Amino acid sequence: MRKSICNLLIDGTTGEGCRFSGWVRSVRLSKGIAFITVNDGSNLGGIQIVAEQGLPNFEEVSRLGTGSAVQVSGVLVESPAAGQDREVRAEAISIIGPSDETYPLQKKRHTFEYLRSIAHLRPRSNTFGAVFRLRSRLAQAVHQFFSERKFLYVQTPIITSSDCEGAGELFRVTTLDAATPPLVDGSPDFSQDFFGQRTGLTVSGQLEGELFALAFSDIYTFGPTFRAENSNTARHASEFWMIEPEMAFADLADDAALAEDFVKYLCRFALEECAEDMSFFDKHIEKGLLERIRKIAEADFARLDYGEAIQRLQSSGASFNYPVEWGLDLQTEHERYITEQLIGGPAFILNYPRDIKAFYMRQNDDGRTVAAMDLLVPKVGEIIGGSQREERLDRLTDRMTQMGIAQEPLWWYLDSRRWGSCPHAGFGLGFERLVMYLSGMENIRDVIPFPRTPRHAEF
Ligand code: 4AD
Ligand code: MG
Repeated sequence: MRKSICNLLIDGTTGEGCRFSGWVRSVRLSKGIAFITVNDGSNLGGIQIVAEQGLPNFEEVSRLGTGSAVQVSGVLVESPAAGQDREVRAEAISIIGPSDETYPLQKKRHTFEYLRSIAHLRPRSNTFGAVFRLRSRLAQAVHQFFSERKFLYVQTPIITSSDCEGAGELFRVTTLDAATPPLVDGSPDFSQDFFGQRTGLTVSGQLEGELFALAFSDIYTFGPTFRAENSNTARHASEFWMIEPEMAFADLADDAALAEDFVKYLCRFALEECAEDMSFFDKHIEKGLLERIRKIAEADFARLDYGEAIQRLQSSGASFNYPVEWGLDLQTEHERYITEQLIGGPAFILNYPRDIKAFYMRQNDDGRTVAAMDLLVPKVGEIIGGSQREERLDRLTDRMTQMGIAQEPLWWYLDSRRWGSCPHAGFGLGFERLVMYLSGMENIRDVIPFPRTPRHAEF
């Protein structure tokens, strides 16, 4: 008989008895009747409970504090008032866990900054309820998308000895008593590291993902990744989740096609399966959000060569803080200008200069670019980074030598180019950036349950 409020509203029959539990959002007294909104997290608005004076504990119930946990038994009825179709006429309300005026989440508008400081309670607010329901549903949609296409789901290691992106952004893994490793011959003593080996938290599951693609053809990872970059921006977190598909016998065009299908699928999914929460975002977070997402789900994504993007930025006449020059990476201001001003929608930038990209990307015949792609979207900037991988052993080892990357620790990666190597490609979608993009939330700290950034390690 116990039901979520969401299911009660979907398939409950008017006139039928019901029982559910949740937390009080508000209590309003009018003409001796208490109107109590109870929310159990299963939907946005919860449900209205009508409690009349005949209830034995009416006095207590009418004084319930916001945040109290209650169990309600009653009858589902048509609601005569505007605002909801149905409500519950209470027959009994038991107070399971009371709350009082010291509860930090009283019914009023709070700033996101304040709510960040009470990350243990903010999931009980409307905005964060909507965000974390959307996040949960999107995670399921990710698996659904790849499962429909018969991609194998592989769990790559979190503790790893390789720095996939080569950016030196690994958090080191040590045992607790290694807080101050002694110096031996001027070099750090790693004996207290991972059983004597140097390891860190993964920045990407790609390299291991490639190995699985070379066995299962189409695979994806979906897990936590970590970056020790000290960036205090609204788009960077030290711990974030990434989805990394990898396809064997595929090139950069196949990669971009998959990325486009994937993003559009997730847009449609959010509109169809998370309609109530998406309407909330449209109304309270970003006006016009629904229209924006609908357009993305239908439009063709633009494809621009990096060189062409540089030319168009240069001839735009716009003034930027960072220089625009062939060979330099695009900064967020450039990425946003491209998608918001030049294209007016998502855009793939293809074939970046070799020297600003990772060692594993496939070298193009021009001798100066690699088969890389970034998907840029308005407001957020880069949401996906990917590439066709260098499948030719000699080209790969040459590049590693040029970049000063030791081959020995990556022997297993190089082995994959020794036997049965083939063209393959993949990408990484930042899950939080996706949630930001689809909800209109502007700070990555507000789409992660308990964000880890250089200034947030509580909880
Ligand atoms: O562009 P990145 O660094 O690419 C890779 O890690 C590749 N190995 C992926 C692959 O080809 N399999 O990261 C991919 C995406 C970015 O586009 C961005 O959306 C997200 O991960 N990302 C971050 N999200 C939040 N905080 C950070 N610090 C992020 N760094 C990257
Ligand atoms: Mg990138």
